[in-house]
Amino acid sequence: MRPRTCFLAALLFVGAAQAETIAVVGTGNVGMALGTEFAALEHTVIYGSRNPESEKTRALVDRTPNATAALPAEAAARADVIVLAVPGMVTESVVSGLGDLSGKIIIDPTNPLIVEGDPPTFTYGTDRSLGEIVQEAHPDAFVVKAFNTINWQLMIDPPTPPPVIPLAGDNAEAKRQVAEWVRAMGLDSVDVGGIYHARATEYLIVMLLNNSFTGSEKFEVVFQRVE
Ligand SMILES: NC(=O)c1ccc[n+]([C@@H]2O[C@H](COP(=O)([O-])OP(=O)(O)OC[C@H]3O[C@@H](n4cnc5c(N)ncnc54)[C@H](OP(=O)(O)O)[C@@H]3O)[C@@H](O)[C@H]2O)c1
Repeated sequence: MRPRTCFLAALLFVGAAQAETIAVVGTGNVGMALGTEFAALEHTVIYGSRNPESEKTRALVDRTPNATAALPAEAAARADVIVLAVPGMVTESVVSGLGDLSGKIIIDPTNPLIVEGDPPTFTYGTDRSLGEIVQEAHPDAFVVKAFNTINWQLMIDPPTPPPVIPLAGDNAEAKRQVAEWVRAMGLDSVDVGGIYHARATEYLIVMLLNNSFTGSEKFEVVFQRVE
């Protein structure tokens, strides 16, 4: 068995109750939401920040049980799972600086948004998808596009019934593991297929944001499980 397969198999056989070390790269809204949620599930969180000693990062560490902070590459090196909570248009450069992530799960909530004007208009900032770009940068890691279709507040305080979030990724076991964590956070998920489909979920957000600011008829898009 190759080392990365070995690690993933170990992760999956022990199940969702196993405490993992999670590097949450980025300390903004999504980093805070997912970092505190993973900590509430008794995982060990290391925030990966450009400024691990800043007042903002220290305040986040203080409100997250059993958490620490380090520079992004150090946090990723010490973790089993990496969460990319950084602005979409810097994702490629951030992941290129994270070192060897072979065998690790990368959870990718990013959206490639270019924002201009007032009221703002949003355009899709890549010719592929960030999910695919991250997977290409780390071909031996298991990228799961997740959490990019819901607001950070819903990650912390999900309504009933919970929002269903799409998971896209090429490794079924990694998606199953992320689905377990999603359920443990009080959310729901559906497997929408390979990482190629990340572009559809990312583009959806561009459409929804434009609609929320400038659309004449407002709408919402929801994923619904069909039995
Ligand atoms: N906001 C939402 O509700 C939401 C929901 C779903 C998905 N998303 C997506 O999730 C990602 C993070 O969103 P967010 O709302 O958490 O963003 P945010 O509040 O702006 O935080 C992003 C964090 O990324 C880090 N970062 C690293 N390199 C950076 C750079 N060059 N410029 C700025 N920040 C940099 C910063 O942490 P340090 O200063 O500690 O390095 C920053 O706090 C985005 O791709 C977004 O599209 C957002």
